[in-house]
Amino acid sequence: MTSPITTSRQGAVLILTSDSPPVNALGAAVRQGLQAGIEEAKNDDGIKAVVIICAGKTFFAGADITEFGKPMQEPSLPVLLDQIEALDKPVISAVHGTALGGGCEVALASHYRIAVPSAKFGLPEVKLGILPGAGGTQRMPRVAGVEFALELAAKGDPVSAGKAKEAGLVDRLAGEDSLLADAVAFANEVIDQPISRSSERPVTVDPAVFDAFRKANAKRFRGFEAPATIIDLIEQTAGKPYAEGVQAERMGFMKLIMGTQSAALRHIFFAERKASKIDGVADDIKLRDIKKVGVIGAGTMGGGISMNFLSAGIPVTIVEMQQEALDRGTGVMRKNYEASAAKGRMTAEQVEGAMALLTPTLNLSDLADCDLIIEAVYESMDVKKDIFGKLDKIAKPGAILASNTSYLDINEIAASTTRPQDVLGLHFFSPANVMKLLEVVRGDKTADDVLATAMAIAKKIKKVAVVAGVCYGFIGNRMLIPRQMEAMKMLHEGATPEQVDKVHVEFGMPMGPFQMSDLAGVDIGWHRDPSRIENIRDALAAEGRWGQKKGAGFYDYDEKRQPSNSPRVAEIIEEFRKKTGTPQHEITDEEIIERTLYTMVNEGALILAEGKAQRASDIDVVWIYGYGWPVYRGGPMFWADTVGLKTIVAGLEKHGFKVAPLLREKAEKGERFN
Ligand code: 3HC
Repeated sequence: MTSPITTSRQGAVLILTSDSPPVNALGAAVRQGLQAGIEEAKNDDGIKAVVIICAGKTFFAGADITEFGKPMQEPSLPVLLDQIEALDKPVISAVHGTALGGGCEVALASHYRIAVPSAKFGLPEVKLGILPGAGGTQRMPRVAGVEFALELAAKGDPVSAGKAKEAGLVDRLAGEDSLLADAVAFANEVIDQPISRSSERPVTVDPAVFDAFRKANAKRFRGFEAPATIIDLIEQTAGKPYAEGVQAERMGFMKLIMGTQSAALRHIFFAERKASKIDGVADDIKLRDIKKVGVIGAGTMGGGISMNFLSAGIPVTIVEMQQEALDRGTGVMRKNYEASAAKGRMTAEQVEGAMALLTPTLNLSDLADCDLIIEAVYESMDVKKDIFGKLDKIAKPGAILASNTSYLDINEIAASTTRPQDVLGLHFFSPANVMKLLEVVRGDKTADDVLATAMAIAKKIKKVAVVAGVCYGFIGNRMLIPRQMEAMKMLHEGATPEQVDKVHVEFGMPMGPFQMSDLAGVDIGWHRDPSRIENIRDALAAEGRWGQKKGAGFYDYDEKRQPSNSPRVAEIIEEFRKKTGTPQHEITDEEIIERTLYTMVNEGALILAEGKAQRASDIDVVWIYGYGWPVYRGGPMFWADTVGLKTIVAGLEKHGFKVAPLLREKAEKGERFN
């Protein structure tokens, strides 16, 4: 097999070029090729310096994640990097694209780093539940300072080459189109310079930095195992020799990589990428051109949806029925953009640029030139069918017609047009300009190229898209139904809202079922008749306890929306317990998990068996990106695998639930969902 590493020479400079698509991951062949190159440099007196550079779209994007868990092939990355650093001829890493994880560690082990301005550097291992395991936690603080290392390694977000240069990680910026030439010139300049090795540099730091960093990021790191280990390792650099530090790093790496969190996070890395693939549709199918988007409805959803496209540079025509609503909607969009600018996330020019792409109108026929039209009005089948009937007459041939419905039947909506092949669901999650998830709902007649175009445009607006089939609530909301139902039943049987919510928050969710109800609105879906009180929810709604927006729901809220337990809610619950004569029992945390989360897994198994989700990992992606399921638990289906499907079945049976046949079958065969 030919090596992905080729060598060439310019004068006394040996150039090692890696060409291992798609991202030059540091798999065994790449490591072996680099090692051979370093050996060549060591043994050849004619070579005075080495440049490491990559072909294709990026510098090494990290260790090869697909090798994790398999027997290691020599050389290991840490050993290779020590050999690079030990070479007594200057080694220059020439970086373009993204130098991530092990890739960034290659750069750190080199004696110099040159990068094009568009390059990025990062240590994203923490996002895979592990830590930089090839010297990154020990070399980065020595090269670029402790605070920079903490930011990069514990949070995992990459930085620009410019920022990396400010921190001292990058020595020199190259021309965007002259990286190799600039790197060779740099090598020639430093050929006779004494070599400075990253691992030999001293670390100076105020020890207070570490606790301050832990405290400032406590919320962000809640539930995650890797960040604490990473911070500890970086803290060690100040007092201990490098050799001791890397040994501790190795041990920490091995411990984390064998743990469930890392397995879960790696599962999600691949699940997210797999989700974009549509079974039975060729990858190279010809897509429809989306140059202009129409959005119907300038409410919270319509506005948020529009912002996604504007931010991606795609013009949007937004339609409302009344001028006042239109003005209010566009005003909110501007305010949201300005808030982002105030936080430094965009410039004032970018705000103006995005808003300039927006055309507000009261006239539906102004959507005639749009390539994609998204309806985002309230949930009423009659209203939606009426709109789609009108769109059918207005939209140009080939335009994609989408509904943002969260529950309704896309086939029925499509049937109100003469072009059901062009219709599909695009279910955004609120706030639509922030939430990453997009459920792309495939109707029975949706054309393959329409579906594929929707998946492609989702990527363009930086969403994680998942294909869902038509069913009530699609994937995400459908699984929410049994959870909310059981949570409510447990109130009757003896639990309190705070107890149920606490179990969910401790599990790692951003909030529990009742906190979610209060946030979304207790009155959503309420029959609106205050005299008709059939359940606890009706009683709350009848008293105007509609949730956070009214300062009262399942909890009481102060003016800062801080919740407290509500004596009135306790009374209402008690009245219902008496009225219905529901037998009371002590509800344990375990019962809450079994009745709210096991039932979700059960529903997930039904969704899967019915083909409403393409694969179990898609369900995981929906719950992580749409509902804040703790990513370190890998999504509900992955989590079920870690609990054991036999245990899930037994838990469901204990409470008298009907077990989904697919779940039972897998449990009996000892199989997993993922
Ligand atoms: N190992 C193996 N495969 C990888 C990979 C990696 N490190 N990084 C990306 N890939 C694969 C993807 O799975 C995808 O495969 P597919 O086409 O079969 O679905 C393909 O490369 C392209 O990836 P993307 O679709 O993500 O391409 P983008 O252009 O959108 O993004 C990227 C490129 C920014 C490099 C992104 O892929 C990424 O963030 N990769 C992961 C980087 C990372 O986590 N590195 C650290 C690895 S752990 C490590 O280095 C440990 C060390 O400290 C010892």
